[in-house]
Amino acid sequence: MKAMITGANGMLAQAFIKSFPKDWELLPVDIDVLDVTDELAVQDAVQLFKPELIVNCAAFAQVDLCEQEKERAFLVNGAGPGNIADAARQIGAFLVHFSTDYVFDGSSNTPYQEEDPIHPINVYGASKWEGECQIRTRLQDHLIIRTQWLYGSGGNHFVDTVLNLAKTNRVLKMVHDQVGSPTWTEDLSKATLELIKQKVTGTYHLTNSGCCSWYEFACKIVEEAGLRVELLPCSSAEFPRAASRPLYSALSVEKAKEKIKSSLPHWEIALKQFICSGSEP
Ligand SMILES: NC(=O)c1ccc[n+]([C@@H]2O[C@H](COP(=O)([O-])OP(=O)(O)OC[C@H]3O[C@@H](n4cnc5c(N)ncnc54)[C@H](OP(=O)(O)O)[C@@H]3O)[C@@H](O)[C@H]2O)c1
Repeated sequence: MKAMITGANGMLAQAFIKSFPKDWELLPVDIDVLDVTDELAVQDAVQLFKPELIVNCAAFAQVDLCEQEKERAFLVNGAGPGNIADAARQIGAFLVHFSTDYVFDGSSNTPYQEEDPIHPINVYGASKWEGECQIRTRLQDHLIIRTQWLYGSGGNHFVDTVLNLAKTNRVLKMVHDQVGSPTWTEDLSKATLELIKQKVTGTYHLTNSGCCSWYEFACKIVEEAGLRVELLPCSSAEFPRAASRPLYSALSVEKAKEKIKSSLPHWEIALKQFICSGSEP
């Protein structure tokens, strides 16, 4: 079996590549080899390699920068997945694509379900929703996974940011009014592979279990790493960013749980394992 992985140098793609069963032949490609916004190049690459599976990890995922570079956001996160879906349909390949909690506006106070109303409040979220729509209208054989708050080896993420800041500051302020589920790319990759194995199609939410604020997440990171730093909660208003963030964007994972027959580990357990596995920024 052959799988093509786009955006292969990214954080999630790297975890995915590590988790793949060894009997799969993998073709990892990033923008230097295959730009997903180039429709013809995508078609050529897919026609040449003829994968049974395409995992699209390519994205313009710098949420604040997307506000300034709206056109690029919609090209990479909207049109790109559409190009891949077209190419997949032409050869009968299955497409796995990742989307985000940022398609929701954060006004809920219970975990978002897959069919809840979409209302992105930033460019990144709107462009990712466009990508979902492009895939749904072009290709039946797809699996769209919405996830959030990712961390893992080989990427820029909150855990490493906190570890770095904690080494050089005695006091750190962290946002306490945004809630979500921190998710380890390794757990996400394994669960996604299980859904692929079961040939599950459609849209699913997948995160580690439980949820917390960024402040609570930072407290646990510092505790697990054994660092001494004073953490103070602050509001989103005190820490303005170019892109608005949803205040509550935990995702209900019940639909995926029915398929894989278990939840992903609690976020605190996953974090402990990640830090024990040697996350040194
Ligand atoms: N990180 C999170 O917290 C999070 C949360 C929810 C959903 N997601 C979704 O999960 C997926 C993986 O995210 P990630 O955090 O692993 O992102 P990432 O580390 O930024 O990886 C994305 C990769 O795609 C590449 N890329 C950018 N433009 C491209 C193009 N036109 N053609 C081909 N490749 C291109 C990037 O290259 P450059 O680095 O050179 O641009 C990068 O290597 C994305 O779909 C993202 O939207 C992420």
